[in-house]
Amino acid sequence: MGTFGNEKHKIMQGDALEMLNFVEDESVDLIFADPPYNIGKNFSGHLDKWSSEEAYLNWCYQWLDLCIKKLKPNGSFYVMTATQFMPYFDIYLRNKLTILSRLVWYYDSSGVQAKKYYGSMYEPILYCVKDKNNYTFNTNDILVEAKTGAKRKLIDYRKAVPTVYNAEKVPGNVWEFARVRYRMDEYENHPTQKPIALLDRIIKASSNVGDLVMDPFSGTFTTCFVAKELDRRCIGIELQDEYVKIGLRRLQLATEFKGEKLEKEIRTFETEKLAITMNSL
Ligand SMILES: C[S@@+](CC[C@H](N)C(=O)[O-])C[C@H]1O[C@@H](n2cnc3c(N)ncnc32)[C@H](O)[C@@H]1O
Repeated sequence: MGTFGNEKHKIMQGDALEMLNFVEDESVDLIFADPPYNIGKNFSGHLDKWSSEEAYLNWCYQWLDLCIKKLKPNGSFYVMTATQFMPYFDIYLRNKLTILSRLVWYYDSSGVQAKKYYGSMYEPILYCVKDKNNYTFNTNDILVEAKTGAKRKLIDYRKAVPTVYNAEKVPGNVWEFARVRYRMDEYENHPTQKPIALLDRIIKASSNVGDLVMDPFSGTFTTCFVAKELDRRCIGIELQDEYVKIGLRRLQLATEFKGEKLEKEIRTFETEKLAITMNSL
């Protein structure tokens, strides 16, 4: 357990169920929660598997309630879990918040996902707000190309004065972003790292400069990294030393952790490149 950083950018190391109690009630503008999915991933030696589905859901309901408590009255909450658990989250949360969108994060994959059934190519995200009449949504900061107007240059003749279709629009509820791959610059050593592009859209849409963004299961601290880049304040909670080290480095909050220098791991292709350069000298 421990807290690192400063007033603007804070890392809290420990169990989310405990650490969330140290966050002031109704103080957070935006929460992005990407918990373990109960599917057996290995988080730095800690297996993401509960004794039963019921036990997993009961644990989730506890931190979901705490997150709601910490959210400002005009706050927004994005939450992820595995496809098989999302219906439970949906039913649980719809009585406490307004669910504005059921988002699908879709990713292409050239690898074979499954041979005897249809492999998973997406992850669901619930987008909820506390007050459906008062929440932040920065439409102009997240516009995407609208192909009809931008590419096909079609004209809407149904209008009194024929008008060219809009060239931009608010994204729909299916979002395509590449998964983080080993060779990408943003890659960190974590089994379920979320892409910068995904958090960039969420944070731009649902918070303003200076707002407080919180991630109770930070992993590689993508949420906090993007929040900082976009001039928001942030709180990131994480259990494991290995991932807290990534967070401290990515957020530039420390250069050492427990006496260990914080440096990004060199990837195999980088060593190969280095060897080729050295040999050619
Ligand atoms: C799905 S990952 C989050 C990945 C993150 N969104 C990213 O972009 O890297 C879930 C994380 O929650 C952490 N975790 C698991 N149980 C926790 C707990 N009780 N409290 C805080 N963190 C926990 C795991 O170590 C893991 O890094």
